[in-house]
Amino acid sequence: MTDAARIAWVDEQCRLMAGIREEIAQTRPFDGLTIGSAIHLEPKTAALVATLRAGGAEVVATGNLGSTQPGTVAHLRASGVRVVGEPTRDRAVRARHIDEVLDAEPQLLLDNGGDLFLRYLERPYAGLLGGTEETTSGRQVLEPHRAALGLPVLVINDSPIKAFAENQHGVGQSVLESYLRFTNRITHGERVVVVGYGWCGRGVADTFRNARSQVTVVDADPVMCLRALMDGFRTTSLETALADADVVITVTGGGRVLGPEHTDLLRDGVILANAGHEPDEIDLAAIEAQTGATACETLPDVRSVTFADGRTVHVLGSGHMVNLAGPGARGNSIQSMDIGFSLQTLCLAQVATGAVGPQDCVVPVPRAVDVAVAEGYLALKGMR
Ligand SMILES: NC(=O)c1ccc[n+]([C@@H]2O[C@H](COP(=O)([O-])OP(=O)(O)OC[C@H]3O[C@@H](n4cnc5c(N)ncnc54)[C@H](O)[C@@H]3O)[C@@H](O)[C@H]2O)c1
Repeated sequence: MTDAARIAWVDEQCRLMAGIREEIAQTRPFDGLTIGSAIHLEPKTAALVATLRAGGAEVVATGNLGSTQPGTVAHLRASGVRVVGEPTRDRAVRARHIDEVLDAEPQLLLDNGGDLFLRYLERPYAGLLGGTEETTSGRQVLEPHRAALGLPVLVINDSPIKAFAENQHGVGQSVLESYLRFTNRITHGERVVVVGYGWCGRGVADTFRNARSQVTVVDADPVMCLRALMDGFRTTSLETALADADVVITVTGGGRVLGPEHTDLLRDGVILANAGHEPDEIDLAAIEAQTGATACETLPDVRSVTFADGRTVHVLGSGHMVNLAGPGARGNSIQSMDIGFSLQTLCLAQVATGAVGPQDCVVPVPRAVDVAVAEGYLALKGMR
């Protein structure tokens, strides 16, 4: 399938956004406004951008580290959207892309990881109305800056709908799909360790269990470990879990999880993957830099590190979000993102029209938006 065909397929499948697109083409909440976005550039985002433009917005877009799809960039540019930069895994290059988006002085920011808002605080400009933050990681980054921001910033991640539809079910399914895509290995009977039992981790653990893997859960929070136990998973310390793992998947949003201090514990042939926002959950650079270690790319975007004693570990997507990395990455299912991006669109409209104010700085999606999205999706299924 060509990029154009896939983008058209995705757009056609985003039925919830299609309804919103029709509505805001009439109400035009974004007339005269520029939206600066810094979110994964892949086909579902193209559908989101088309929806925002239907509501009157100019969009200046850049991607995240390691997930930008060139076909989507080309499509957006051909349709008149200003896309800043090319795919990159270089933080300094990405920082320049963020600056270029802010140079356009957008009135609304659509952030994914807090980078736009944080940089805005360092180089403010007049006219920013506020915006949205997509992720758990971004909310954590922005929370300490509420007073300095003083603008409405709605956190899409803190909608219960985003949590279960995208983080749990969407990420769970797409991480399994990506594992199969990268490795072509069996899941049945495999010992899979999931590190982080939040919304995403619960989805990943569940999906691999449904694929008949033996799943062990590790979490820094004993309450989450108890939850995992009661959900029927084995739970133990990271060190104990690593010792008999065939596959280890990090999804914490909590910074560095796996580094050289853990590699002695890993069995030969173990597969490591990360689904958390930042690639440094697996400290690949330090793992590769260990004395006597050699590394190479055994498959496209699979780094294989062989240690001095002959054991090898394979790191999918070089530690970048596995469901958005590597050749043929699809990301989360279309419907989970249709729901998430419908929340995005309606929240940006709330900010644009002044329905929320400075008191709504780094707060969850308003309940009325959650209800509208839930009712809209149920109606599409003929259940309303
Ligand atoms: N790959 C994707 O498509 C995708 C989609 C949505 C979110 N995310 C990212 O996934 C990450 C997790 O999101 P979430 O919604 O599940 O977050 P969450 O806050 O619900 O859960 C995170 C869990 O990780 C645990 N944790 C934190 N640091 C840890 C550590 N060092 N060791 C073990 N456990 C640790 C926490 O106790 C918590 O239970 C975030 O970075 C988020 O941005 C990725």
